[in-house]
Amino acid sequence: MYKLPIVEGTENEKGIDIGKLRDESGYITLDTGYKNTGSTQSSITFLDGEKGILRYRGYPIEQLAEKSTFLEVAYLLIYGELPEKQAFENFQADVKKHQLVHEDMKQILNGFPSTAHPMGVLSSLATSLTAFFPESLDPNRSSDKVNTTIIRLMAKIPTLVAWSYTNARGIKTNYPDNKLDYVSNFLKMMFNLPTEDYEVDPVVVDAMDKIFILHADHEQNCSTSTVRIVGSSHANLYASVAAGINALWGPLHGGANQKVIEMLQNIIANGGDTKKFIDKAKDPNDPFRLMGFGHRVYKNFDPRAEILKKQTDKILEKLGVNEPEFEVAKQLEEAALKDEYFIERKLYPNVDFYSGIIMKAIGIPIDMFPVMFSIGRLPGWIAQWREMRKHNEPIGRPRQIYVGEKERPYKDMASRS
Ligand code: ACO
Repeated sequence: MYKLPIVEGTENEKGIDIGKLRDESGYITLDTGYKNTGSTQSSITFLDGEKGILRYRGYPIEQLAEKSTFLEVAYLLIYGELPEKQAFENFQADVKKHQLVHEDMKQILNGFPSTAHPMGVLSSLATSLTAFFPESLDPNRSSDKVNTTIIRLMAKIPTLVAWSYTNARGIKTNYPDNKLDYVSNFLKMMFNLPTEDYEVDPVVVDAMDKIFILHADHEQNCSTSTVRIVGSSHANLYASVAAGINALWGPLHGGANQKVIEMLQNIIANGGDTKKFIDKAKDPNDPFRLMGFGHRVYKNFDPRAEILKKQTDKILEKLGVNEPEFEVAKQLEEAALKDEYFIERKLYPNVDFYSGIIMKAIGIPIDMFPVMFSIGRLPGWIAQWREMRKHNEPIGRPRQIYVGEKERPYKDMASRS
């Protein structure tokens, strides 16, 4: 009989500390997909899927989305507190100072064919930053120097995203404009044309700012766990973030909002009959699912979706866009919310449903949706990497239960049938 210590969090979440289990008993625990495994004790984000709660550093997501900005939320996540006025001014000024990227980065960009997926380009460019800042490779630099890397990432990733967008389209690169706020500057770098000045629309900026805030952290999800585990080998921050971008690329993680628009387009291509697709989603013998409905963690409602629903209505009204995808989305949303199948299983539209619609309305190409998610998740990745290093966490190295062949002798080629 072994007694294992209990660990309790500030919100009364309870865990069993098995840190010494193997040494003392010879047993390990098996938990594929880590559904029941806590990998760390973190002070960054709290979420309760049953109650629909999401808080960054204790602040409810609803209040942050309403009152804060993405850059202020980034500061909160990374440094742990809302900044005082002067500290925030300094942070903003530092980010602005580092928005430019080395001109040689364009040579790297030019090396990609125009068919390159923007997530592959972004993770490569994030790794390339190590070449321009080789001092970042040292894992034991002073916190001041690590902080410069943090600022550089926050400053340069949006520039690199915008440059990869314009480059793939053969459009002249736009440089950062330090007179603009973080999100306006990003949108201008994306959409400004030599023939037509991009007018920054406050409604669009507000919607994009909220999308970034709502995606900024989500505790130990797949990409964040990746960033922490890569960083636990003392890989530098650029490399760790690049690994996070690659993890986010998967359709089960950052690719879901893209799938929403593809599903809407598929419904239209098949005659626009939403009822037919709802019936397909309900059919247990049909693998089709309504993309953008349901969530692994949020079982009653997704607090982020509630916020973005309002933004979706605002943006569609303001931009007056009337694409068939939006009409189909509305029909699906209304029908599913009234349908017993979806009500019983608590399948509500999730954050991807609304963020997909908003980004489509703004004019962001759908293969760049996960890239937008990366910009939003960046401060979360940085905060989690920083926390992991501050706690001096050991290298991440799960165990396994081996189920392969027992020992057997090598067979010469001639004797293999
Ligand atoms: N459409 C139709 N039926 C669904 C859907 C859906 N989108 N989602 C779940 N169901 C049904 C399942 O068939 C199952 O029915 P059953 O009880 O009759 O067998 C029941 O609801 C429970 O489904 P699970 O798969 O057990 O739920 P789980 O929590 O494992 O899955 C998931 C959550 C993966 C998000 C799922 O709802 C899904 O596939 N949704 C569509 C994809 C999507 O939008 N993903 C983005 C999630 S948000 C994010 O990752 C940021």
